[in-house]
Amino acid sequence: MSTTNTTKAEENAQPHIPSASDSEAMKSRLKESYDAIAATYNDWTTQHSSLREKYLDKLLGYLVPSVAAPSQPGHGQVYRILELGCGAGIPVTERLVNFDFASSDEKGASSFHIVANDLSSTQVELGQKRLGGSLVSFQTNNLIEWIQGDMTKLSFPDESLDAVIGMYSIIHLPKEEQAVMIRRIARWLKRPSSSDDHGSVGGGGIMLLNFGDEASDGEVIDKWLGEDKGWMYWSAWGTEKTMEIVREKQNGLEVLVEEVVSEKEDGAVDVMFLWVIARRT
Ligand SMILES: C[S@@+](CC[C@H](N)C(=O)[O-])C[C@H]1O[C@@H](n2cnc3c(N)ncnc32)[C@H](O)[C@@H]1O
Repeated sequence: MSTTNTTKAEENAQPHIPSASDSEAMKSRLKESYDAIAATYNDWTTQHSSLREKYLDKLLGYLVPSVAAPSQPGHGQVYRILELGCGAGIPVTERLVNFDFASSDEKGASSFHIVANDLSSTQVELGQKRLGGSLVSFQTNNLIEWIQGDMTKLSFPDESLDAVIGMYSIIHLPKEEQAVMIRRIARWLKRPSSSDDHGSVGGGGIMLLNFGDEASDGEVIDKWLGEDKGWMYWSAWGTEKTMEIVREKQNGLEVLVEEVVSEKEDGAVDVMFLWVIARRT
């Protein structure tokens, strides 16, 4: 993460670079932090949702043909979506769960099957309370399945997912693991189909991720959001190198959106994030 102003939160910062072998210890500490500050984070995040909603809308425009062109008929498709580091589901999982295809599709014709993953058991429990427990069906026909744990331990068959979303979550991995995750996600995304059961051509799976814009081998803040138990860790390759990894030939990804956006965090700090939407080709 890059910051351009200095605040009290920054004064608490102690640069720290965990080696790969420290990764498990770092994640266990991060889990404790998110468990402890879940309520504060969720209050804070509720007031800072607009950028996430903007990029989620972009993703949905690429993913669901009838969102981009309402006159297009739905095809009864079940979209398999993985969300990495979903927190308590605010605002992304909630929007997906409540997405009503009836307004842009034949009623009940298509649906989302969302796999919502987070490291923090407290956040997952809060999400389940708000949105429903494991594999619950909603009025909209969408389904949700919660998986608590480290995203790097997840595994899915190649070409099995329609979308993978990770907002402000991959940034918590050591950067070497971020590169591994990008390559894995690319493999999990479906390739375009020449023709589906309904005779229509399907686009490839889509990923929406954000990253720190400025390179950092690892940055620690002891009291994020002013919380005594708000120990945090982030790292980043920086925009140029991240995009190099995304564009590696073996990933087969076409970049649809690459934008660096400045945000206000923790009161007054300007933080720059790289937002990427890419489609499997
Ligand atoms: C800044 S919050 C973002 C939450 C949500 N995506 C949002 O946009 O509000 C980061 C989330 O990533 C989760 N997280 C951090 N490291 C993770 C990991 N290795 N695997 C899964 N989730 C992780 C944290 O528990 C936390 O809920």
